[in-house]
Amino acid sequence: MTVVAQISDLHVRPEGELYQGLVDSNAMFARAIETLNDVRPVPDLVIVSGDLTDEGTPAEYAMLKSLLATLTHPYIVLPGNHDDRDALRDAFAGHTWLPRSGPLHFACDVGAIRLIALDTSVPGDHHGELGVDQLAWLDRELAACRDRRAMIAMHHPPFDTGIPYLDLYGLRQPEALADVIAAHPHVDRIVAGHVHRSMQTRLGNTPVITCPSTTTQIALRVDADASPASYMEPPAFMLHRWADGKPAVSHLSYIGRFDGPLPFA
Ligand SMILES: [Fe+2]
Ligand SMILES: [Fe+2]
Repeated sequence: MTVVAQISDLHVRPEGELYQGLVDSNAMFARAIETLNDVRPVPDLVIVSGDLTDEGTPAEYAMLKSLLATLTHPYIVLPGNHDDRDALRDAFAGHTWLPRSGPLHFACDVGAIRLIALDTSVPGDHHGELGVDQLAWLDRELAACRDRRAMIAMHHPPFDTGIPYLDLYGLRQPEALADVIAAHPHVDRIVAGHVHRSMQTRLGNTPVITCPSTTTQIALRVDADASPASYMEPPAFMLHRWADGKPAVSHLSYIGRFDGPLPFA
């Protein structure tokens, strides 16, 4: 059995500062860690799928590191559009699998699964892109693990959400990624963040799942005229679990403490 937890879009701020001046994203991330530390079975790995910080500053990465120090499971981080590649690289210098320059993509083994992390961030911008070089790297990595199930983790999901202000900052040319994935049916699923809401679709035949934020959730306004808004809906994390050689089951679970357990199923 292999168990991978996923959290996303922490938007950590410098100590004592609020996200958008309104929301204590640091306290909400601390609650997410408390929930993850209690999850059973114990995750083999936690993926933090981007927007680790809100402005990519060293003060925010320092706060992020001090909060992550309380997480009892191993974790990997990938950048989102609110991160800064170099500041992230400096903050996680001990993560020796991160490339020393360019996009922060990497591959690693988690139990029976090959995890491939892509860097969709574009320095200085908010939309996502995967360049020709990164797609060629992905193709080579996938060709090298045909004997196993693979999971791809990335910040910007490769589809249009129908929420107009999100799609302005979506992944450009998702078809290029689809072309690579089509040649590799051992890609079990693609997991992403960025949209601050749980969504499921497919890229070709491959499932794509997004993880909610540990802080605010994007308003469900699937309307061409919708204006940007967020809600304090319950934050959540994902738990992807592989067993018996079968595809993963991806569970969404809310962060916090709730009444129960009640004595029935
Ligand atoms: Fe975000
Ligand atoms: Fe994002």
